[in-house]
Amino acid sequence: MAGRGAGKTKAEGKPRARPESDAEQQIREERDRLRSIVDAAVDGIIAIDAQGTILELNPAAERIFGYAASDLLGQNVAILMPQPYRDEHAEYVRRYLETGERRIIGIGREVRGRRKDGSVFPHFLAVAEGSLAGKRVFTGVIRDLEHLRQAEERARQAEQLAALSTITAGIAHDVGTPMTTILGYAELLERSAPDDKSRDRARHIVDQVRRVTDLLQTLLNIARPRRAEHEAIAVADVLDHSVDFFREKLKGRGIVVERDYGPRPTVVADRDRLEQVFLNLIVNAADAMPSGGTLSVRIGRPNDELVEIAIEDTGVGIAPQHLDRIFDAFYTTKERGKGTGLGLLVSQRIVREHGGTLRVQSDLGKGTCFTITLPSR
Ligand SMILES: Nc1ncnc2c1ncn2[C@@H]1O[C@H](COP(=O)(O)OP(=O)(O)OP(=O)(O)O)[C@@H](O)[C@H]1O
Ligand SMILES: [Mg+2]
Repeated sequence: MAGRGAGKTKAEGKPRARPESDAEQQIREERDRLRSIVDAAVDGIIAIDAQGTILELNPAAERIFGYAASDLLGQNVAILMPQPYRDEHAEYVRRYLETGERRIIGIGREVRGRRKDGSVFPHFLAVAEGSLAGKRVFTGVIRDLEHLRQAEERARQAEQLAALSTITAGIAHDVGTPMTTILGYAELLERSAPDDKSRDRARHIVDQVRRVTDLLQTLLNIARPRRAEHEAIAVADVLDHSVDFFREKLKGRGIVVERDYGPRPTVVADRDRLEQVFLNLIVNAADAMPSGGTLSVRIGRPNDELVEIAIEDTGVGIAPQHLDRIFDAFYTTKERGKGTGLGLLVSQRIVREHGGTLRVQSDLGKGTCFTITLPSR
């Protein structure tokens, strides 16, 4: 445990003034034993005085909050709390010292902490009160709940997604059947129309119904992914095809496309699905650059076994605290009707099905780079 109370024992470093008595040895051994427990604890442990000054902390606390002990010792504990917990905490301590009313001490509760990088995370905090050299000391035990919460959240989303898939498949089927009939008759009308005007009208019906059936097909693909058909494909061709698909949209937004393919490797993949991933990432990149920028698509070979495809934009970027969430189902920052928040989830699923990984790296205000790594053929 780092801190004022955890200096070297007198026996270390300096010549001994006199041999340690049995009682002293016992106390030293006991203290060392306790310290080793505190140091090995998975939970963070932080001791503060009545003013909130950090006196000691263990390695787990350093890890949880992302600070080195030397950054924290002597600082006010408020540095580890986001608002409104910071103000609440000051108020609790004031009330407690004044009235003895306990809110956390001996009870414990879930609060939020703030890491060095500014990210906020949930933890369970229990506080014990004691004294050191006649002064009050509060020792907080901090259990990081982030992974637990994330796992709960993922389970919740998986459930939602499963429910959505079932509903979507049902609707797509029930709406799809009459659509097929409408399409059939509309095509018949188009073919047998007596004049241009009627043919035009019939063609409108056909076009619009096709739009609906295409949308239904997309929904069905998400809800019930079809069996993958793997074949050897040239990554560059699929990537080119995807970029070309949005050529007009990109040009219209003032987005310049830069391609750097270097090698032209082959991967064994389902062409349509891989294209779906590229399209998702390109649309996201374009959406992140509403007033233009550069879309850079690159293919690399980090080694003989892997192919790396990078899709990078010079757009708005993603804040560090949101990076973890972008792959979650329904996480979207787009306005209603523009994004469903499923694109990255589906993309990641497809890439994983191909034995690959999808990583993201982003600088807020500067841009984002998604990297797909696939096993090469
Ligand atoms: N290139 C990017 N730059 C900045 N933010 C991005 C980028 N790609 C994704 N994001 C963020 O991640 C969120 C989730 O992306 P995702 O593709 O999963 O869903 P969406 O684009 O919002 O909706 P959908 O793809 O389902 O239409 C986006 O709303 C956006 O906030
Ligand atoms: Mg998207």
